[in-house]
Amino acid sequence: MKRNIRLGVFGFGCVGQGLYSVLNQTRGIRAEIKKICIKHPDKQRPLDASLFTTNRDEILNDPEIDVIVELISEVDAAYEIVATALKNRKAVVSANKKMIAEHFPELLRLQQQYQTPFLYEASCCASIPVLRNLEEYYDNDLLTSIEGILNGSTNYILSHIFENNKNFDEALKDAQQLGYAEADPSLDVDGYDAKYKLLIILLHAFGILLKPADIFNYGIGRIKDADIRYAREKNARIRLIARCAKSNSHVYAYVMPAFVQQADTLNKVNYEYNGLLIEGAFSEHQFFMGKGAGGNATGSAVLSDISALTYDYRYEYKKLQQQLNLAYSCNHLLEVFVSYVPGAKPPCEDFSSISAVHESVDFNYLIGTINLEKLMQSAWVNNPSVSILLTCNG
Ligand SMILES: NC(=O)c1ccc[n+]([C@@H]2O[C@H](COP(=O)([O-])OP(=O)(O)OC[C@H]3O[C@@H](n4cnc5c(N)ncnc54)[C@H](OP(=O)(O)O)[C@@H]3O)[C@@H](O)[C@H]2O)c1
Repeated sequence: MKRNIRLGVFGFGCVGQGLYSVLNQTRGIRAEIKKICIKHPDKQRPLDASLFTTNRDEILNDPEIDVIVELISEVDAAYEIVATALKNRKAVVSANKKMIAEHFPELLRLQQQYQTPFLYEASCCASIPVLRNLEEYYDNDLLTSIEGILNGSTNYILSHIFENNKNFDEALKDAQQLGYAEADPSLDVDGYDAKYKLLIILLHAFGILLKPADIFNYGIGRIKDADIRYAREKNARIRLIARCAKSNSHVYAYVMPAFVQQADTLNKVNYEYNGLLIEGAFSEHQFFMGKGAGGNATGSAVLSDISALTYDYRYEYKKLQQQLNLAYSCNHLLEVFVSYVPGAKPPCEDFSSISAVHESVDFNYLIGTINLEKLMQSAWVNNPSVSILLTCNG
């Protein structure tokens, strides 16, 4: 694109305002916001009212607008906006991981059919550049695993528990008061947000396209005070880990809380930060860390996508094209720590091996290896009296 890019923005909340702010502070990109579509016309805005509309067609049908930037909180409306924009052959930038994870096949088809780019770097780890790196830099490397802390809210809660001696409820309340957790925190706390991001990463890393239900997610909401005490005694902390990895010709993936040793790289990722460990057969371990939430941090990734559109960048989905012949399979053994109240002990036969059982008046746990497929199918996993964490060897 030769002239200034004209942007039609949907959403002027945390990320929309962050984008506005970073766009006004950077000189390197020739882009201007022509219109912003919001939901509530009566809300006080810091900008002139003429910039705002509640009529999405005013943006989607404007021939002067080149790029649609979708930054709204709703999923169905976001998909309708993105799909219409692509059909109108307008390039799209989005940060909406849930919408992308739930509609990935249609979004791939629309990009192909209308030959129009759709970029979504900010959807995965906010400020950390992941997707373009996986597409371009790691194109020829033999990626073996990607593991990380992909959710800022849960990482804030867990950091607060371990750094400031809080219990789970206190830490959640503080995170909500500071705006790091939603009033309804279940998407974050139950591991769904991290799972949506992992699903997107899986496509760009290994060429594997999944539905959200294919990936096991076990959040941090069932972690008990006794589990936290156990972690402290072992000089470890608890982190919510999202992992996808290659094992021979298959790839497995999951989101689970894990004990992490003090010396582990991911232990350096605190509060609202995200961290990503990428392992390749030749590049070996590489570590990315950055803010996983926040207006300016996320806005900077959105701006980077807008900038990439100025040189006609689009995802080629290289790993899909390369036909790596990798199959997705949850047939993979994990070492887990399972704590339970009396009467809720999981059946021993579900485990391939059990290396420790501790039963006392106030704390019961076992440590064993279990197949990820078995975890996904077992009813006891959903018992609120049980909590499951990956061990440090998990
Ligand atoms: N916050 C972060 O740090 C972060 C990080 C990475 C990715 N994301 C993603 O970025 C997106 C936006 O998040 P956010 O935190 O900025 O949300 P937010 O603060 O809740 O703001 C949402 C904005 O979307 C507008 N909106 C909602 N439904 C709409 C509709 N149907 N039509 C038009 N506008 C609509 C709202 O309008 P009103 O102003 O009128 O209410 C508001 O301006 C989400 O997909 C989120 O998952 C957020």
